[in-house]
Amino acid sequence: MSVDPTRVGVIVVAAGAGERLGHGIPKALVQCAGRTLLEHALDGVFAAAVAGHVRVVVPAGAAKLRSIVEAQRQPRVTVSAVDGGASRPESVRAGLDALPDDVDIVLVHDAARALTPPQVFRAVVTAVRNGAAAVVPGIAVSDTIKVVEGNTVTSTLDRTSLRAIQTPQGFDAATLRAAHGASRSDSVITDDAMLVESLGIPVSVGQGDPLAFKVTTPNDLMLAEALVHQARRYAREQQ
Ligand code: CTP
Ligand code: MG
Repeated sequence: MSVDPTRVGVIVVAAGAGERLGHGIPKALVQCAGRTLLEHALDGVFAAAVAGHVRVVVPAGAAKLRSIVEAQRQPRVTVSAVDGGASRPESVRAGLDALPDDVDIVLVHDAARALTPPQVFRAVVTAVRNGAAAVVPGIAVSDTIKVVEGNTVTSTLDRTSLRAIQTPQGFDAATLRAAHGASRSDSVITDDAMLVESLGIPVSVGQGDPLAFKVTTPNDLMLAEALVHQARRYAREQQ
């Protein structure tokens, strides 16, 4: 089914401090193979070409990030920067408030998942367009996951039913607005799908991608840099 991009919005949340990365600057501003993580993330969003509206949520007062957003020029896409909040859900709400009222699909994407391939965005939009209220990309878990209390294992989860969930997460716009309207403590909310789940609305899982990993620690940044260099080498070889 074809998708009218003017009715699709993407919120790119980039207002985090990046404490675990430890560069002392917002993570979205950290360089990865010569470009900021935010620029890499926006490349994927624009290459997907699914949305007519992109709102990038940046830390309040982050002039450099704001100017990166304001320098983006995309035909038929409105792009603007919005001040974020102290928690990720607050930042998502700021992005949501900045989207036009008539968007009917909203994707929420972590800028920290800077190398997410365009096809992940397309698959998520298609799934929502085909009727899912909420869709998340997921990948199989390779570690054994145990539940621990104190220093003691209380159970071991069945890995075959576990998925590591990524972004972009896609929603019917009214569902996402309702989910964010319900009050609860932001501190335990690690993604938007959790809010939808708590309303009792089913969340579908689509195919994620290893390249949609989140740059969280210095190791992740090293991996991202190596992957960007490898992709550039490959592109040169194809010329
Ligand atoms: N995020 C946000 N607003 C916040 C917190 C997080 O927009 N108040 C965004 C981050 O910018 C990131 C995404 O949510 O793109 C996922 O968060 P995370 O990986 O935890 O990034 P940070 O919060 O920046 O990192 P840390 O927790 O290590 O400080
Ligand atoms: Mg964080």
